[in-house]
Amino acid sequence: MADRMDFTRTEAVAGPKRPGYRTFPNLNGDYSGRIELGKPRSRDEIAPPLRTLIGEILAGWKRLPLVILGPTGTGKTCAALAFADAVQNPFFLSFADLIRLNFAPWDQQAGMWREVERSELLILDDVTVGLDSENSLKLRGETLWRVLDVRERRANSQTVVTTNCRREKLADSFGPACDSRLFCGSHFELFGSDRRFEQQAR
Ligand SMILES: Nc1ncnc2c1ncn2[C@@H]1O[C@H](COP(=O)(O)OP(=O)(O)O)[C@@H](O)[C@H]1O
Ligand SMILES: [Mg+2]
Repeated sequence: MADRMDFTRTEAVAGPKRPGYRTFPNLNGDYSGRIELGKPRSRDEIAPPLRTLIGEILAGWKRLPLVILGPTGTGKTCAALAFADAVQNPFFLSFADLIRLNFAPWDQQAGMWREVERSELLILDDVTVGLDSENSLKLRGETLWRVLDVRERRANSQTVVTTNCRREKLADSFGPACDSRLFCGSHFELFGSDRRFEQQAR
């Protein structure tokens, strides 16, 4: 079997044995517990320089957090999950679900924050600024800051963030405290067209 840590090799991440990911119940109360995210993902489909960067992070040469930026469909979530395949016990959290959880009962919120604090690897997927209102922007900024701050203060806590916003947009919207905590490690910007549509066209 391919070495799980060796990101310079391009074999697919072991398919059927791929671990599920712990995630958090959504507000409808359905608790998925572990999610597989259904998609096959292979290392050779990750842009080679990003694959190299992930390998360097896993080897300890480059620092976390890792921020993967790029438009919708460029492969951010798949790359983050391929990273997660190489570590123990990852916790996957969609930023949209995290925001919605601000309105959930306190015990649900507490359970989620415990995971955010303790997980060795947190994937915070699809951080967006949101266009709806000033209040929503403030809530997003405060929630993001809280996640990053909690993670920063804890040893052995690796964080991978994906976003379809540019760095400047994130900094403008969420301020320097988030910018500093997000971009103090490694980041990589993906370009290109939406791969979901490309697959459709094939
Ligand atoms: N590493 C990969 N292995 C296999 N398929 C991939 C990979 N990266 C992207 N894809 C394909 O491109 C689609 C979009 O990728 P995704 O990671 O969901 O994009 P994003 O998170 O940027 O919107 C996926 O559904 C998948 O089919
Ligand atoms: Mg995504």
